[in-house]
Order: sequence, then structure tokens, then C-alpha cells
Amino acid sequence: MTIKLRKLSYALGAEVLDVDVSRPMSEQQFGEIYRAFLDNNILLFRNQSISREQHIEFSRRFGELDRHEALPRDRHKTHPELLMVTNEPKADGSPSDTKYTGRQWHSDMSFTTAPSLGSLLRCYACPDVGGDTLFANMYLAYESLSDGMKKLIADLHGIHLSGTRKLANDDSGVVRAEEQKRINPPVAQPVVRVHPETGRKALYIGEKVKRFEGMTEEESQPLIDYLVAHATRAEFVYRHPWRKDDILAWDNRCTMHQALGDFDETQLRHMERTTVLGTPSGYVTAA
Ligand code: SIN
Repeated sequence: MTIKLRKLSYALGAEVLDVDVSRPMSEQQFGEIYRAFLDNNILLFRNQSISREQHIEFSRRFGELDRHEALPRDRHKTHPELLMVTNEPKADGSPSDTKYTGRQWHSDMSFTTAPSLGSLLRCYACPDVGGDTLFANMYLAYESLSDGMKKLIADLHGIHLSGTRKLANDDSGVVRAEEQKRINPPVAQPVVRVHPETGRKALYIGEKVKRFEGMTEEESQPLIDYLVAHATRAEFVYRHPWRKDDILAWDNRCTMHQALGDFDETQLRHMERTTVLGTPSGYVTAA
């Protein structure tokens, strides 16, 4: 098989055409897909009407899967390899714990000492308009910095916290935030990471970074804001408009993303994500 690709944007992303991810795939066939994943940072597979087991099985081709111990409220009850991202209320009518997942710029599991290699998000339902996801190419973000800025950030570590910026407008959000703090202590990650497979340097920043190690929040925030604003300039970003049965696979080592809340919340947005385990890069530290 020689896969057919269609570029999704100037900065990153490609659609893989004519592939059914639920069908058996040889090592060589998957090798082509993985090469395209490393080259394009995001791969889109459309019209994948597959079962949860098939989603998990295809994801395992990318590596061992996270069972989401760090996010116990958010995983699927019988398939811990699946992380729910849904605004569907719970059976008792209370708001979903994952209603606001991903509403800030982040790279998955950056608040753990071995953050994710990549994620595969499957769309079950999306609103008529809005609810897109933005992705930024963090290689381009790093490479386009001045030499002076590269020198300044070379040895910095950002302290990443778990949790969502926007919490449900009731006690469940507060309880969840407290629980997240207990399970996931703050983790310091290098601001510049070398991708273990491509050898390229990428910026590793986002809105979960509270401050830089050895610096106060007040000192850190202007630089965090600058780096996030720089990395998310339009020319480094792809905006994905979801369709039912899309699967999007992204490389968390060289991208960050943000789910947009610009949609009618009475409409269902239901996604399920597998998260591929990565290699250690951070260490536990004080908040
Ligand atoms: C996530 O951050 O993994 C979820 C992204 C989305 O729902 O679009």
C-alpha cells in the first residue's frame, strides 16, 4: 500500500485517504501511516464507523495505551483506555465531568512525568456549527523564535498543573479540581523538548503552565503569555471542523491543541480519546 495524503493546512495535518482503520494492516502498511504521522504531526481518518474495541486496537499500533489513572472520573466505565469528552449530562441529570475538557491550549498529559506520545480522538457527535479543535505546530513555533529568545528559554522548565480552566457552574467542578490536585501534583517539564523520534526541537508550553521553575508567577506570566500567543499565530495553526466518525491522531510531542466552546450547548458534542503513553520528560515539583 502507498497511502494517499491530502494536506489539511500549511502548518500541519494531512488526511489519509481510502483507509479503513478497522481492517487488518501489515507492519509495512502501518509503517507508512506512522511515517506520515511523524511528517505531518496530525492525521485525519474520515468515515471510520468503528467499534470502541476497534478504536482501541488501531490506537495500540501507535504504542501502549494509557488507562487514564490520572483522570479517573473521565474514563469510560468499561473501557479505561477511552477518555470521554462529552457534554452529555450524567444519568441523574447533573453536568458531565468532561463538558469543558480541553478548553485551554495544552498537550495531553503534560501534567504527568511521562506525557503522552499521541492521542486518537473519535467523533461520535458534533454540533451543527462550532466545537472545532485548534492545533498548533510547536516545531514551527520554536524554529521561528529569535536566537536571543531560544537562548533565554533553553534551560527553562514550565510547571504544569492538571485541571480545566472552565469548570461546571456548580459544586462538581470544585470537587473535581480538588481531586485533580490530589492525584496529580505539579510537574516541571522542559520548555524546549527534543522529539525522541525526529530529533527536532519543539516548544513545550501551554495554558496549563503556572510558572517557570525558580521564578515567581508574576515573573513568569508575561513570558508564558508571549510564548503561547507566538505558538498560536494563525500561520502555525490548523482548525479542525469535526464530522461524525472522524478520527484525528495527533503527536503530543510537537503539537498543542484547544477545543473551542463556540457552539450551542444544548447540542451534543461527544468524543472519545485514546492516549498513547510517552517517555519520561518531567519531574514532580512544588506548585
Ligand atoms: C482533548 O483535549 O483531548 C479534547 C479535544 C476536543 O475535544 O476537541
